[in-house]
Amino acid sequence: MLSRYLDGIMIRTFGHDRVEELAEYASVPVINALTDLLHPCQVLTDLLTIKEHKGKDLKGLKMAYVGDGNNMTNSYMYGCAKVGMTFVAATPEDYRPNETVTKNAIADARATGASITLVTDPKEAVKDADIIVTDTWASMGQEAEHDARKKIFAPYQVNQELLNEADKRVIVMHCLPAYRGEEITEDVFEANANVIFDEAENRLHTQKAIMALTMAD
Ligand code: NVA
Repeated sequence: MLSRYLDGIMIRTFGHDRVEELAEYASVPVINALTDLLHPCQVLTDLLTIKEHKGKDLKGLKMAYVGDGNNMTNSYMYGCAKVGMTFVAATPEDYRPNETVTKNAIADARATGASITLVTDPKEAVKDADIIVTDTWASMGQEAEHDARKKIFAPYQVNQELLNEADKRVIVMHCLPAYRGEEITEDVFEANANVIFDEAENRLHTQKAIMALTMAD
C-alpha cells in the first residue's frame, strides 16, 4: 500500500531483516535509516565530512573506531573498505562487530587496497590515526544495559590521553547522540565540535543526495 502512496520509504527500526523484507515487497526505493546491523546513511555522511576536513582523497587515510562493535562499526567497515581506507576497531573481545560484515568488508578491501583490522587495545587502534570515531556504548534498544555497559566499556573512552597516540592533526567524530563523560570526554567533544556538527549537518545533505539518486526521474 505504501508503494502506491509514496515515492520512497525511509525506515529506522531494530531488526535488519525488517528492512530487507520491506525492500523485497516494496516497488519504491527503501532507504535504511538505521537498523541494529547497519547505518549506511551515517557512514556516507562521515566519509563526506572526512573529505571536507582532510581535503584530500580518502584512500590511505586511517580511521580508528573505539568502543562498542555495533551498527556504526559494521557500517564503517563497509565504507572504509569501499574507499580504500585503513580501518582499525578496538572493542572488547565480546563486543566485536558482526562476523559476516567483517568477512564481507575484508573481501571488499582487497579490491581497493583498504585494510580492516580488529583489536582490543584502544591505544594500538589509534596509533597514527587521522580520524578517531566513537559511538554510544548502549545503542537504541539496549537502554536497559546502559549501566552494565558503562563498566565494560570504561577502558574504551576517547580522551586526551588516547588522542596523544594518534596523528597530531587527528579529528574526532561522533554520529550523536553523545554521552559526554562516557564514550567521549567533554574536552575532546568540545575541541572537535566543529567537525561533529558538520557531520550532523551533512546527514541532511547526504540523505538529500540519496533521495535524488534513488527517486529522481
Ligand atoms: N549505535 C547507535 C547509533 C545512533 C545514530 C544506535 O544504534 O543507537
